[in-house]
Amino acid sequence: MILVFGSLNADFFLPVQAFPLPGETILTPQAFIKAGGKGANQAAAAAKAGGLVKMIGAVGMDEVAKVPVTALKALGVDCSGIQTSALATGMAMIMVDANGENSIVVASGANMAVSAQAVNDAMIGEDTLLVMQMEVPAEENFKLLKRAKAKGARSILNLAPAGPVAAEDLALTDYLILNEIEADTVYSSLFEKTFLGTEEKALAISEKTGGVCLITLGARGAVIAEKGRLSRISSLAIEPVDTTGAGDAFVGIFAAMLDSGADTLQAAKYACAGAGLACLKMGAQEALPSLKEIEAHAEEI
Ligand code: RIB
Repeated sequence: MILVFGSLNADFFLPVQAFPLPGETILTPQAFIKAGGKGANQAAAAAKAGGLVKMIGAVGMDEVAKVPVTALKALGVDCSGIQTSALATGMAMIMVDANGENSIVVASGANMAVSAQAVNDAMIGEDTLLVMQMEVPAEENFKLLKRAKAKGARSILNLAPAGPVAAEDLALTDYLILNEIEADTVYSSLFEKTFLGTEEKALAISEKTGGVCLITLGARGAVIAEKGRLSRISSLAIEPVDTTGAGDAFVGIFAAMLDSGADTLQAAKYACAGAGLACLKMGAQEALPSLKEIEAHAEEI
């Protein structure tokens, strides 16, 4: 069972030709409201890839709360662990330019009310795969991670967005998934040396934390360091429409594959294929692929 502990947002998409400069006003014909939040996106990606998923998080008592919750329910995610807060539902303002690149501001709202106490001990066991990101309070993540470790659960931490994190907290995580910026943040919080290449960084982080370190590289694929071994995988050749949530698709699909018994490399290949497919429509969850769609492209990785 995959237990996603994390954020739920309503994403407000603003398609733009190019990002406005400071002080500039630009026009766009229309905005779109879509389901988002890194936690919810990862839960959706895992469910669409065939995982059995339970979501723990919080939304406000407002109308936009329906946006992320309805989308997860439609994919069969167990939403009974989503609590209601007096704070507003998390919202993200997302500009997407003509190249499919984005610029995002997240108003955290109810995501900051998420507590590890929402997870009772009966929800965690040796067959649990805990999935976390950093859009909820970091201390709640690490409280839960300690309990999960003590109960023999496996865990994935996607350190997004990146912030300083203690080496002892990282050492509790089995799989650390980072993009290049996050990998720099983690590396510089663990070591004094700089100017290492991505592969050396992945190996050093993995050796220091004792877990697997995956660094995603967008169109250049990903590197994986596990027990002193390094693997490199490619990505799908695609023309991206919107890269929002591609990293979340990677994490969710990786979780679904691991939970179904795949090894790290196989799970990462499927995750990379799925993350590419997830870029083909605007919205973090709009283009999430099914397991069948991922399988059809996994050999291209
Ligand atoms: O990773 C993409 C997500 O980041 C968006 O869905 C947005 O809600 C922000 O949390």
